[in-house]
Amino acid sequence: MTSDRTDLQGDLAPTPPMGWNSWNQFTSEVNEEVMRATADAMVETGMRDAGYQYVVMDDYWSDEFGRDRDGNLDADPHKFPSGMEALADYVHSKGLKLGTYSDAAHKTCAGWPGSYGYEEQDAAQFAQWGIDFLKYDYCHAPEDQATAIDRYTRMGDALRKCGRPILYSVCEWGRRDPWLWARKAGGHMWRTTDDLVDKWVKGNDPGLGILESLDRNADLRSYSGKGGWNDPDMLVVGLKGTGRSGGSGCTEAEYRSHMSLWCMMAAPLMAAVDLRTADRTTLETLTNPEILAVDQDPLGEQGRRVGAGGGLEVWSKPLQGGSVAVCLFNRGAEEAKITARWEDLGLPEGKPVMARDLWAREEIGEVRESVSARVPSHGSVVIKLWPLP
Ligand code: GLA
Repeated sequence: MTSDRTDLQGDLAPTPPMGWNSWNQFTSEVNEEVMRATADAMVETGMRDAGYQYVVMDDYWSDEFGRDRDGNLDADPHKFPSGMEALADYVHSKGLKLGTYSDAAHKTCAGWPGSYGYEEQDAAQFAQWGIDFLKYDYCHAPEDQATAIDRYTRMGDALRKCGRPILYSVCEWGRRDPWLWARKAGGHMWRTTDDLVDKWVKGNDPGLGILESLDRNADLRSYSGKGGWNDPDMLVVGLKGTGRSGGSGCTEAEYRSHMSLWCMMAAPLMAAVDLRTADRTTLETLTNPEILAVDQDPLGEQGRRVGAGGGLEVWSKPLQGGSVAVCLFNRGAEEAKITARWEDLGLPEGKPVMARDLWAREEIGEVRESVSARVPSHGSVVIKLWPLP
């Protein structure tokens, strides 16, 4: 009843998965044209070459009237007239992978057909179409943890048997401690939070802001690592209030901090913005190779907050080869100087250390005992440090 990680699904997420998902920008407007044009744009914008791999259709892709008389799931014929196999072929021809969405109950969150009771049939269908990624939601399912473990394991087992490597994204919003069991159920990533929408802090309307997702995920660092990752939800970078899932938008500094901290936490990076129209700043925030390298570092450690006071924070993430990524993060309303000391970062005292500013992509040079930067309100500076011999 468990995935032993040596099977076909075992090696799918040595580093946090990266891709794009239709939900936040498009919700019910997902269709074949959007998916194809997004695949094209992943290539043209440099997203694919930066490491974003999966193009995922979220809820509303399937036929709202249910399964056919043999119980098979199919795509909405109006939204996807060419069918799933043709879409998978197209996405694959661009050097990308295709993801889909279902739910561990009879219905998805939107009320479209779910996979409960059809796990093997659906997994086989996904494999036949050429699907590479499944996000598996939990609306309309019983609240208790034992049922969730059972239902996620049923789909995990079905995916293992389906004959195709399919990355498994567990989405029960962190309500039943999935970090304790999702890996064993076959999951490669598991949501730790309710839905993040395009805003800095939670208001009265539904959805978490960036800060609430961040704080919830931060405490779970010991559970994340190679093969299975804490998922504080998708990137809202660049939505600027246009996402159909809600939120009034964030500033560029806030989007950059979102990106910095998701990379510090080794989070899966699933972009949401409409890539057909994304502007240059948004693409720079999403594709800075030195920031992405922090997320994708092969050591696979989720970074942690090592200092906080007065809204000023220091985050640290060990990287392969003895270097450390540091994020100086300012939650406050005013620009402030933030300092990270070697004792907070676990670096050897007294030894010189080389520093590089990763957003600016510039050497800072040799530093001793601490490193500081002036950080704008809601902004972040990410610095890589490596001790000199
Ligand atoms: C849930 C998930 C979201 C999205 C919607 C689709 O709320 O958490 O990410 O998939 O369902 O209805």
